Amino acid sequence: MKILITGGAGFIGSHVVRLFVNKYPNYQIYNLDILTYAGNLQNLKDIEDKGNYTFLRGDITDKAYLEHMFADYKFDAIIHLAAESHVDRSISGPMAFVQTNVIGTVNLLEACRCAWGGDYYGKLFYHVSTDEVYGSLGEEGLFTESTAYDPRSPYSASKAASDHFVRAWFHTYGLPVKLSNCSNNYGPNHFPEKLIPLAIHSIKSGKPVPVYGKGENVRDWLYVEDHARAIDVIFHRGRVGDTYNVGGVNEWRNIDLIELLCDVMDERLGRENGTSRKLITFVKDRAGHDARYAIDSSKLMQGLGWEPSVTFEQGLRKTVDWYLQNEQWLENVTSGAYQQYYSEQYSTR
Ligand code: NAD
Ligand code: DAU
Repeated sequence: MKILITGGAGFIGSHVVRLFVNKYPNYQIYNLDILTYAGNLQNLKDIEDKGNYTFLRGDITDKAYLEHMFADYKFDAIIHLAAESHVDRSISGPMAFVQTNVIGTVNLLEACRCAWGGDYYGKLFYHVSTDEVYGSLGEEGLFTESTAYDPRSPYSASKAASDHFVRAWFHTYGLPVKLSNCSNNYGPNHFPEKLIPLAIHSIKSGKPVPVYGKGENVRDWLYVEDHARAIDVIFHRGRVGDTYNVGGVNEWRNIDLIELLCDVMDERLGRENGTSRKLITFVKDRAGHDARYAIDSSKLMQGLGWEPSVTFEQGLRKTVDWYLQNEQWLENVTSGAYQQYYSEQYSTR
């Protein structure tokens, strides 16, 4: 089977590529990525020479390029992760999100439809999406697969639009699709614009750890390798046309998470307990900040037998250790353009 994975040089994509390349030596895995600021081939150093892996540098917003790629490589399936993924960036520059997340997804749907010409036997379009499409929860309740969409940021609106297009291609053209909507991931290779790696980087450097508002917003955290395992399970055993929610059963208020992270960092850096908590700084809230996300994954857990394999305490320690052991990775991605992003994002907060 020839599988095209888009966005495979990014955070989650790189874990999915690694899992598929190592676990399925008979599959040919093609990683198509344009390498934005978030795409990094260093994430895949350990598998780049494997015979069943090929990197293709390309842009999913370029329809003609995609048509050529599909004609040349004759992909059987696609796992689509390429996206602009950071909510704060979507607030300061929404158009890139419309281009990549909406137009890019429709281009891929069309490339599959044209290349496969209505002969869909053994073919699959797997769309990786987010729980943010469901909007914001109050103190009670969980997002299920039938929760009505209510996206509230440019990022989540663009992902919601892409989900609708994927389902439209299923209903209208019969394109075989599967979707999954996952909660917040964390783990190695996470770009340090997102809360956990940003806080690790700040604590390590003795800089303020910015917590938006009062830190009371709640997220449901899942270790990235467990998300990759869920994608593997759904890709192989999920029902065509279906959606699966993926979550960690692991809700944390931001402030509680950051305090735990400070304590783990103190322990790992040999600092006196309580040192890093002094770096916590409450800053201006995110516009339209969703209060709470929490996922009901029972369809995936009971139907396909998936469950998270690491606890949050284990996963957080593994993550901290990875960042401390891969200082060069962190240094590379936080030099250059990152500096400008960081000062624009946080100087006015
Ligand atoms: P990321 O920002 O780390 O990686 C995105 C990748 O897509 C990068 O490698 C980038 O170079 C590539 N890309 C961007 N624009 C492209 C284009 N025009 N053409 C080709 N490649 C392009 O993102 P991530 O956090 O790994 O998220 C991956 C997917 O999973 C996204 O679709 C996101 O919406 C979804 N998701 C993320 C999370 C999370 O917590 N990070 C949770 C649920 C769902
Ligand atoms: O829920 C899934 C989503 O999780 C994915 O679809 C997105 O791609 C991914 O970026 C993530 O979105 P969030 O906005 O939840 O993640 P982020 O790490 O940006 O923020 C997590 C929480 O921490 C959120 O409530 C905002 C807050 N925050 C974030 C940053 C960057 C802070 O308090 N301070 C910060 O500096």
